Amino acid sequence: MNEFYQKDIISVKDLEKPQFEKIFAATDRIIQMDPNERRELGRGKTLGYLFFEPSTRTTLSFQAAMALIGGTSIGISDVSLSSTKKGESLADTLRMMSIYSDILALRHSLDGSSRFAAEISSKPVINAGSGTEEHPTQAIQDLYTIKKEKSKIDGLKIGIIGDLKYGRTVYSLLYALANYDVDIRLVSPESLKIRSDSIYEIQKKLSLKESTNLEEYIDELDVIYVTRIQKERFPDEEEYQKVRGSYKIGLDVIQKMKENAIIMHPLPRIDEISTDVDNTPQAKYFKQAEYGKFTRAALLGLILNENGF
Ligand code: NCD
Repeated sequence: MNEFYQKDIISVKDLEKPQFEKIFAATDRIIQMDPNERRELGRGKTLGYLFFEPSTRTTLSFQAAMALIGGTSIGISDVSLSSTKKGESLADTLRMMSIYSDILALRHSLDGSSRFAAEISSKPVINAGSGTEEHPTQAIQDLYTIKKEKSKIDGLKIGIIGDLKYGRTVYSLLYALANYDVDIRLVSPESLKIRSDSIYEIQKKLSLKESTNLEEYIDELDVIYVTRIQKERFPDEEEYQKVRGSYKIGLDVIQKMKENAIIMHPLPRIDEISTDVDNTPQAKYFKQAEYGKFTRAALLGLILNENGF
């Protein structure tokens, strides 16, 4: 039996290198597979998504991934149109969704929401973003992007820039990278530094340095992972105003980078990367979004098929 069959994907901490490598290999197969054969993987299956926070890529890529393997998707991406508005509890909404679907994807502003959902739901649950805590499918797609675009993960120097305090993709990415031999450089405004308690367990496994100044590391990085300042998570708008626009990757910054370095971003971007960077060979964020469809299709295929593929 394949080890992902009917499993929840809640935290990257539940995965280790062999599991990542299996998902990457399955993603390669998904890309190469005959479309008719691929559509057998999800035939007759339904993905139920519940998005209690805004999303573009994650909802669309889950739907596109499910379509790619021949399944269907049903869901709610605007909670203001659902019975939650009438006062229905999250638990009851989850129970309903697990009756109508074979696998669930949940995005919610609360840390711990996906773990809670997995306890309630009779069907496997994928965490599609839980508060400031984690976004595991994003990390899988991020690692896959690095592997494809740099041909390896081990031995790279990876800079993570922006909102390291509230950005959940940052935590999932760091937990995933802790399985590899990489150098990490963290760059953020002082008030948005990484939450040290959240990386306590992995700190020993990662060679890690921090700065507020991107200039300090820019010429040595192989991967520059830029993140959005998470405005909606600031308790106070004034605090956001102090740090907005802290880092801007423009053509001037590209000049200082290693020639074959790549720029990634989970998206949406606001103004952290100027649009004139989009056409440079270093810009990989749209490619990264494309890989997300295939990594999610692979994951769904593995969870839904007892014997894998
Ligand atoms: C991210 C998220 O929701 O955490 N978006 C995404 O899923 N690609 C990043 C963000 O919102 O900044």
